Amino acid sequence: MTDQEQAPDDLATDARAVSITINGTCSQHHVQPRTHLVDFLREGLGLKGSHLGCEHGVCGACTVQLDGQVVRGCLVLAVQADGRSVNTIEGLSDSGAIRELQQAFVRHNALQCGFCTSGMLMAAHELLEKNPDANREQVREWISGNYCRCTGYQAIVDAICDVLASRKTAQREGAAA
Ligand code: FES
Ligand code: FES
Repeated sequence: MTDQEQAPDDLATDARAVSITINGTCSQHHVQPRTHLVDFLREGLGLKGSHLGCEHGVCGACTVQLDGQVVRGCLVLAVQADGRSVNTIEGLSDSGAIRELQQAFVRHNALQCGFCTSGMLMAAHELLEKNPDANREQVREWISGNYCRCTGYQAIVDAICDVLASRKTAQREGAAA
């Protein structure tokens, strides 16, 4: 019998109890040790904003935050999130944390099919926090781990630079007031 063909009793035995804070709410679950975080979020919890593309850490479609750090959901096991905090694109969107970025993406037509968009927004959100002075080249480099197969990167970079510039303007005006 292969790993994929385990009997229900074996599955029940293997399942591990985990406690994970997801988008600010702590809950308990039973997960298989080999289940990846993104599969658990999508299939176990119905949080389908994070996507599965390459499934080996290359495309960035599965990006989520683990304890505030951006990680590839396809490279982290759900059991590794036990006792930790996970934020998904749904959580960041509902909280308003990425509203400026979302509006800029719409303004610049920075998405078409949207498959890469949640990962792009998560990466861009992290950039705004870590390097608010980033120039265009640094923006390009920052999102280079996120693949977009349809829009092209110009509009995405434009959108992120737009938010960086408007935040700087607001900061200058705030300081001058
Ligand atoms: S699906 Fe995880 S990086 Fe591509
Ligand atoms: S908008 Fe389609 S992959 Fe980026």
